[in-house]
Amino acid sequence: MRLNFARSAAMLAIVAASASATSVKAEDVEVLHWWTAGGEAAALNVLKENLQDQGIGWQDMPVAGGGGEQAMTVLRARVTGGNPPAAVQMLGFDITDWAKEGALANLNDIAAEEGWDEVVPSALQKFSKYDGEWVAAPVNVHSTNWVWANKSILDELGIEQPETWDELVAAMDKVKASGKTAVAHGGQAWQDATIFDAVVMATGGPEFYQASMVDLDPEALGSDTMKEVFDRMTVIRGYVDDNFSGRDWNLASAMVINDEAAFQFMGDWAKGEFLKAGLTPGEDFLCFRFPGTQDQVTFNSDQFAFFQQGDEPTPEQAALAKAIMSPEFQSAFNVVKGSVPARTDVSDEAFDACGKKGMADLAAASESGNLFGSMAHGHANPASVKNAMYDVITAQFNGEYDSETATEELVTAVQIAQ
Ligand code: BGC
Repeated sequence: MRLNFARSAAMLAIVAASASATSVKAEDVEVLHWWTAGGEAAALNVLKENLQDQGIGWQDMPVAGGGGEQAMTVLRARVTGGNPPAAVQMLGFDITDWAKEGALANLNDIAAEEGWDEVVPSALQKFSKYDGEWVAAPVNVHSTNWVWANKSILDELGIEQPETWDELVAAMDKVKASGKTAVAHGGQAWQDATIFDAVVMATGGPEFYQASMVDLDPEALGSDTMKEVFDRMTVIRGYVDDNFSGRDWNLASAMVINDEAAFQFMGDWAKGEFLKAGLTPGEDFLCFRFPGTQDQVTFNSDQFAFFQQGDEPTPEQAALAKAIMSPEFQSAFNVVKGSVPARTDVSDEAFDACGKKGMADLAAASESGNLFGSMAHGHANPASVKNAMYDVITAQFNGEYDSETATEELVTAVQIAQ
């Protein structure tokens, strides 16, 4: 009897020790993300410091690769292995896909307590919520239809900010003739697709973007307008340097920063790189909308989703969600990241000229029905369709298909992927 008691006391001690070991470990929050470029890491530090100030340790799980494709592959492996990270950076339809699988923690109580319903724009709530339940906390709004330009190259060559496709082509011509690279680009599928977002919008306008990229209307996908989109992608390809294949997006930004190239067509995370390099908008670099898309915004929003670790979000998950959504944090973080706040009640005071423009453009586009989810960044369709589009866009950009074949392939690929 005594022996038994002693034995079970010892066992209890072991159980207690392992429980306390678990709870010590649980004070760290593991965060899977793809913010590995200089500007991205600087923004991430704002979040890390916020949590550290609350006594919560940060367990970093970075997966390099812009756009997050590799991160999503690693995530799938972690979940399949029964070991999901506590918090994950995610885009649009990926959130919906995980929510459908029932894997995400329900944030309703935190959202109600903090009044998220009132301050998060409905375009974002579409992805932050699944079946009426909050499943993710949006940290920002990025948009993809931007041009980042080297001001001194433009001034030297007497190039005005291009407002139309023809003016853009004339500008790219001048730069090429000067011996500099006109378009800094990294040949990776998601980067090709980021340019494609803008070219679809510029060529066909908002209704065409909606029909082809969002509604996947086979007529729009297979139209002459789409063929013209591919023709324009070929034109852009002609202004990219020979070493573009596989280059990371931030190295392409560096070409503009270092006076090697005039333009980069990229989302506003590029601004994070310019700022990190100590450059000032309006003085050293220009930010403007891709010619022909001045009134439109193709957006994507980084959100944090929390994998279930019990019935309720853990205290650390809750603390991270609250930190992300605080107005002060949304200002501090997005000033560094290049994006704009995911709440409607944050002042633009702390933001530079590009950030102020980004906030004003977003509000105006939302008001006028010109706000669209970015295809390239998972806000127009689920990953299966997005990846099918990527394949065709990249093959065409690299000369494997002519425009006509690419248009046909796009229709077929999208049909199969649905
Ligand atoms: C994300 C950005 C990120 C970019 C490049 C986008 O999909 O939304 O936060 O900076 O990819 O990595």
